[in-house]
Amino acid sequence: MVDVILGLQWGDEGKGKIVDYFAKDYDVVARFQGGPNAGHTLYVDDKKVVLHQIPSGVFHSEKLNLIGNGVVLDPITLKRECQTVASFGVDLRKNLFISERAHLILPTHRALDKASEVSKGNQKIGSTLKGIGPTYMDKTGRNGLRVGDLLDKNFTTAYIKLRLKHQRLLDNYAFDEDISAWEEEFFEALEFLKELNIVNGEYFINNQIKAGKNILAEGAQGSMLDIDFGTFPFVTSSNTISAGVSNGLGIAPQKIRDVIGITKAYCTRVGGGPFPTELENEIGEELRRAGSEFGATTGRPRRCGWIDLVALRYACMINGVTKIVMTKADVLDEFKELELCTSYKISGKETTEMPFRLDRVPVEAVYKKFPGWNVPSSAAKSVKELPETMRTYVSFINEYLGVDIRFISNGPGRNQIIAVG
Ligand code: GDP
Ligand code: IMO
Ligand code: MG
Repeated sequence: MVDVILGLQWGDEGKGKIVDYFAKDYDVVARFQGGPNAGHTLYVDDKKVVLHQIPSGVFHSEKLNLIGNGVVLDPITLKRECQTVASFGVDLRKNLFISERAHLILPTHRALDKASEVSKGNQKIGSTLKGIGPTYMDKTGRNGLRVGDLLDKNFTTAYIKLRLKHQRLLDNYAFDEDISAWEEEFFEALEFLKELNIVNGEYFINNQIKAGKNILAEGAQGSMLDIDFGTFPFVTSSNTISAGVSNGLGIAPQKIRDVIGITKAYCTRVGGGPFPTELENEIGEELRRAGSEFGATTGRPRRCGWIDLVALRYACMINGVTKIVMTKADVLDEFKELELCTSYKISGKETTEMPFRLDRVPVEAVYKKFPGWNVPSSAAKSVKELPETMRTYVSFINEYLGVDIRFISNGPGRNQIIAVG
């Protein structure tokens, strides 16, 4: 069967750590969407590693990892990441597989991403500038180049043709940066990529399922960044929700069993766009400090705020979440009072539903206040050692969402996670 781990907020919920933790129970870990915009942090031998392209199961030597067709792949980032991962003794020839249908991010996609952002002025998305949007545009526009095309003798001709098309667009944007160094690096990285296991991902994964193996699908970004259901246009360019597993890996929906949603005990967002519970004050700053909330991919300070139950319940509905993991509970240890957003007030009217354009309506978050637990929680190893008030906080969330938090993560460490029911 296939289980899914994905983010329920605006990304950076701690997916990398949780996938790494659960990977022991699975045979294959597969990424189904996104690309190097993702930054998934995990700790191996107490060393911090941030993965952008490679699934977070890669440090379990006996597990297979698949980069699925729904992913967009930057060969330069991949090569660099493979070198880091290999330095830990991981044999990527043995345990990393890449779908031939995954689309390639070209240097000109990155340039186009930048040019497009600059042209948007103060309406910019806050893209990670990794070329994600332009690459997915070339996919749906039926222009893109895929990993499998690399093995075709006409690849260079197809590349030149697409590059010319991109150049015309870049000229339109008056983009004049020299990208020749990127291109050189890109072609070197393609040679590296060709040596990896390029496979037909859909047969690869379905054969594993047929053989009775367990698959863990790893989401990138978060549900509120989904291209259809997120806070459009301030979203990423792929389907980050559970439906993305089917078209991002070639897995039929009935094969999916658990959808494990990850939420922080509070909320963050990086980049532009609406964020109803954002705290642009000293509490927000305290959350950023306590949670070390700086982007794993871009280093940007993350915007911080209280947990948003309206958005979370919406995410649970869209994804069909069956279990929740709450991360970063320890970050709230020093707060005397906590707040949870239970509804939105839009133009004076209270609602618990997500509006069409959160960025176009005056939204005021309505909160329920909660006493903080005010004791250190990161050393706790069992549910009994967790503060009583934290358990009450969790019960309130469970009741509101109609889905239970089954695990609480109380620190970034590999084993700082507690089963709670
Ligand atoms: P992802 O993109 O969802 O994988 O999340 P990121 O790696 O971008 O950001 C999550 C950050 O929180 C990383 O620095 C993790 O090491 C850290 N982290 C994960 N879980 C916990 C936790 O329970 N407590 C604390 N304090 N940090 C955590
Ligand atoms: P992980 O997997 C947080 C945000 C960007 C920007 C918007 C669009 O680590 O949770 P893009 O580069 O995709 O065109 O950017 O989405 N974004 C993320 N925010 N975590 C991520 O990934 C993100 N990937 C993209 O900041 O607002
Ligand atoms: Mg991240």
